[in-house]
Amino acid sequence: MDVSGFYKLSIEERLKRIKEFAKLNDDEVDILKNTGALSFNIADRMIENVVGAVHLPLGIATNFKINGKEYIIPMAIEEPSVVAAACKAAKFTLPEGFFAEADESVMIGQLQIVNPKRGALERLTEKKINLLEAAKKYTEGLEKYGGGVKDVSFREMRTKRGKMLIVEFDVNVADAMGANTINTLIENIAPYVVEITGGEHRLKILTNLAVKRKVRAEAEWRNEVIGMDAVEKILDGYEMAANDVYRCTTHNKGIMNGIDAVAVATGQDWRAIEAGAHAYASLGGYKPLTRFEKTKNGIKGRIELPLAVGTVGGAVNSVPTAKIALKILGVKSAKELAMVMACVGLANNFAALYALATTGIQAGHMKLHARNIAILAGASSPEEIDAVAREMNEKKDYSVDFAKSVLEKIRR
Ligand code: MEV
Repeated sequence: MDVSGFYKLSIEERLKRIKEFAKLNDDEVDILKNTGALSFNIADRMIENVVGAVHLPLGIATNFKINGKEYIIPMAIEEPSVVAAACKAAKFTLPEGFFAEADESVMIGQLQIVNPKRGALERLTEKKINLLEAAKKYTEGLEKYGGGVKDVSFREMRTKRGKMLIVEFDVNVADAMGANTINTLIENIAPYVVEITGGEHRLKILTNLAVKRKVRAEAEWRNEVIGMDAVEKILDGYEMAANDVYRCTTHNKGIMNGIDAVAVATGQDWRAIEAGAHAYASLGGYKPLTRFEKTKNGIKGRIELPLAVGTVGGAVNSVPTAKIALKILGVKSAKELAMVMACVGLANNFAALYALATTGIQAGHMKLHARNIAILAGASSPEEIDAVAREMNEKKDYSVDFAKSVLEKIRR
């Protein structure tokens, strides 16, 4: 798709290009035009006590080339400048773009056994093969997709409530996020484990710290693109995050701006992603999810984090825009989706560091935020919003009072 000047196009023209590119049908375009239009009937069957639905803007990030393939990336987010920042950072990586890889989709399910009988751990180890065979019965459906139970491990925990056993099943959940598969398996297998261990089973649930489902991505930003002195400044900024938990939290938040926006657009469980990302960052002390280093030609950024995402199941099946977003994205598997998300996270992180270490972020951010302030001041038509925002940017005055005065002038 020709993405040059995509942001300058009218919304109609943008939709036309996306329609052609992703081969969307008229119904799908109507859903997008109707800003998502989750029907009452569907919403009412997704959660409880429904009285409406919430909409977020769906933007498109351009310029992403990942492992040699070009992507058009849907991002759902309320914060201005995140989509623009991703596009800009991605453009600066061209022509090489990003390189990414993902582990198999292995999730871990945890089963807690309390008051196990003496020798339970040894008996579990002896019966490992039988346990795996029994567990496989509950994940047979996954086998044709290359998934299924892969392993089981056992550990003992001494707590103030006594000795407990934790039995952990590794399951390749293929293209699903996997929570339902894992939780069903663990609940079903629990009585058999208790037969072996004695005691009682308690918690039976996946862990959102999906350390066996990590994704890695990297990109290089060259001196001639970002400016010779930017590298040192970015490295100073990065070093602050690496050494200070207060800065590191914001650093990682900037990464999650990108990852969450793709997650929300494509119907993922973004709370699981957030929990997993920050828990992973805190293993051994809270650290940045990215690393930056100077190279011969500029600066290289790398990201690594667990990402439990799916292209089937969950909201992907019920939210119409999620299905359309996945179609636009054109990913063939959950692993590919995870790779795209990691690259967007890295791009947003680089964009934030670059802006913060050089010009500061407020100039660019406020320019885009001006339209929100214009709406707050009462501007209602697209023409009014644009005119008020334009004058705010010209005068560099972003107060609501100023926006109101401009609006009054226009209306007069
Ligand atoms: C704002 O949403 C994200 C940033 O604060 C990230 C950062 O500081 O690195 C700009």
